[in-house]
Amino acid sequence: MSKNQKESDVTPELEAFFNEDIRLPSPPGVALKILEAVRQEENSFEDIAKIIMADPALTARILKVANSSLFGLPTPVDSLKQATALIGTNALKNIALSFVIVQDFQDVPQGCFDLTLFWQKSITSAVAAETLAEHVGLKDGDIFVSGLLQDLGVLVLYLADPEHFVFLLDEKRVTKKSTCEVEREKFGFDHTEVSYYLLSTWGLPDRMCQSIQRHHSEKKGESCDESAVVLGLASTISSIYHGTDSNARSQNVQSALAKGYELSPEKTAELIDSVGEKSREIIELFSIDPGEMKPFSQIMQEANEELAKLNLSYAQIVLELKKSKQNAD
Ligand SMILES: [Fe+2]
Repeated sequence: MSKNQKESDVTPELEAFFNEDIRLPSPPGVALKILEAVRQEENSFEDIAKIIMADPALTARILKVANSSLFGLPTPVDSLKQATALIGTNALKNIALSFVIVQDFQDVPQGCFDLTLFWQKSITSAVAAETLAEHVGLKDGDIFVSGLLQDLGVLVLYLADPEHFVFLLDEKRVTKKSTCEVEREKFGFDHTEVSYYLLSTWGLPDRMCQSIQRHHSEKKGESCDESAVVLGLASTISSIYHGTDSNARSQNVQSALAKGYELSPEKTAELIDSVGEKSREIIELFSIDPGEMKPFSQIMQEANEELAKLNLSYAQIVLELKKSKQNAD
């Protein structure tokens, strides 16, 4: 256990899980160097630039992200130095770390695990977290990478027990229970704890790991910090694009943002829409197929049409019942 981890944070079930012979993902060499830099509070541009520039492809990709709609820079940048001056050293190292981790986790044995969907969801969560933080004035320079890695525990659980993981997904689909609920029933802990444990082992700052561990705490009725709240909402926004029940999820985001930040429904809809647009661009920069990510307006329209159909069929059932009752009378 790393010095970051407090014993009280690790349940006996979780400890036993990590003590078993499971294939734990470990960060690649470049990521280790960047992680080392992330651990140090004060980094000079030269320290980070030296690591990144050793990989020209990585440098080119970072510049593309810096020039993307995620940062909305007024003029395009063509060097790391220029990029850092505008987005900061912290953002630079976080983007670099995100790239090397996503790239490294392309090789996991997939079986029935949809790795593309996993990264589509995670990158959209990262973009949503960054966008939300800006909207609500949250000062957390690590929120993008926290959003990206918050569900890494899901991948670890799959790698540990692929067969049971599929069973877990089916269970979730049939029972409509939350991911955390079904994970807890099966393993005695959920992916938030696994993400926390793994990322602490990697030496990510404890503040980040704690927020990641609590990203579903609001749903579980536990207390959590503002970064964790933003991460939880970011995860819900991501599921609007990559999951089911988009209507209910967008209503949840709407009411949470109205209650916590006095954001109007129109502003929230605008925000969710911009997350979708930015995510499509960023997912491609990560060399992941963005698939058919529909615009938010289209998702909502289809959800409402579906709802109208359901209401209609409900009305038909009532009508049929009335008719049969009349015939019986
Ligand atoms: Fe999660």
